[in-house]
Amino acid sequence: MEVKRAKITAVGHYLPEHRMTNHDLEKLVDTNDEWIRTRTGIEERRILKDPDKATAFMGTEAAKEVLENRGISAEEIDLIILATVTPDYFFPATACLVQKNIGAKNAFAFDLSAACSGFLYALSTGSMYIESGRAQKVLVIGTDKMSSILNYEDRSTCILFGDGAGAVLLEESDDETGLIDQKHYVEGDSDCALYQPAGGSLNPATPETVEKGLHYLKQDGRAVFKKATMGMADVSLEIMKINNLDPEDVAWLVPHQANLRIIDATARRMGVSSEKVMVNINKYGNTTAGTIPLCLYDWQEKLNYGDNLILAAFGGGFTWGAIYLKWGTK
Ligand code: ACO
Repeated sequence: MEVKRAKITAVGHYLPEHRMTNHDLEKLVDTNDEWIRTRTGIEERRILKDPDKATAFMGTEAAKEVLENRGISAEEIDLIILATVTPDYFFPATACLVQKNIGAKNAFAFDLSAACSGFLYALSTGSMYIESGRAQKVLVIGTDKMSSILNYEDRSTCILFGDGAGAVLLEESDDETGLIDQKHYVEGDSDCALYQPAGGSLNPATPETVEKGLHYLKQDGRAVFKKATMGMADVSLEIMKINNLDPEDVAWLVPHQANLRIIDATARRMGVSSEKVMVNINKYGNTTAGTIPLCLYDWQEKLNYGDNLILAAFGGGFTWGAIYLKWGTK
């Protein structure tokens, strides 16, 4: 039986205009530009200032750009999968808000929560709908308003993240290009190393949880760093080996942008040289589900038909994984 393959046929993005530089953060917490740049690679990040706009707005803008770039109407979309850890509401799903905003009246839609691995998990899930023939056009969106869950008095976390969104369209490939392989992992016993303690059903919002700042992102930075460095490097190498890819066969590494040192370690382990690694953490920080599609957006002009791409991510959960795809957009 011939197996269908899903490929990315268009990319879109949204970044808020406001740039928060490391120097801006020096005025809020005891930090400095040099520390942030050398420890993380971040120089500035975008912040969505408008209090009336959030994750759905950014996802909507990214989705609109995908439709425009592909030259199709929203009615042609069958499915929207939206990865986020900062939904507008617990329910309805942020994907439903995007469905309404773009007028995708023939689509069903749901959110997917896998923190910084969210976009990869969503891309894998979306590809299954294409491969099974149950959907023809799937919008996969990664969007996070990280500034909504950051404590700008905590220097160990607030310097790391930014707001932003990216999106892609998945359609059936008619040749060898498209998503070829995927590998995903979870280590659920590390749940409290990177999490948002309150606001869910275990610790619903109360004056006390707000007073204790339990609605902010908390992480054990060193533990996450160690595990992320190993996890992202291991899974990237694993997917290369399974698919008989040598370093010279890889055209681009598309890594989640959490820390430049994690990205460098992954590339070193794969044997991939730094010119083949997409890095924009300096401009946007860690936008969680947004990082990988934002890389694809920024690099789309440099991608050639048939290029081998390895997408890799690590995030809260812990969740991590990699996708091997052949770029299929001319
Ligand atoms: N400015 C200046 N000094 C700081 C800052 C800051 N912003 N933050 C911490 N420090 C200090 C610490 O207090 C510590 O001081 P001490 O030695 O006197 O105790 C020193 O710098 C070193 O701290 P470390 O935590 O060891 O610094 P490290 O080199 O590990 O860098 C960082 C910290 C950047 C957070 C790193 O651990 C990291 O990137 N972790 C991974 C983050 C990540 O990948 N998250 C996953 C994705 S997020 C998601 O899934 C939603």
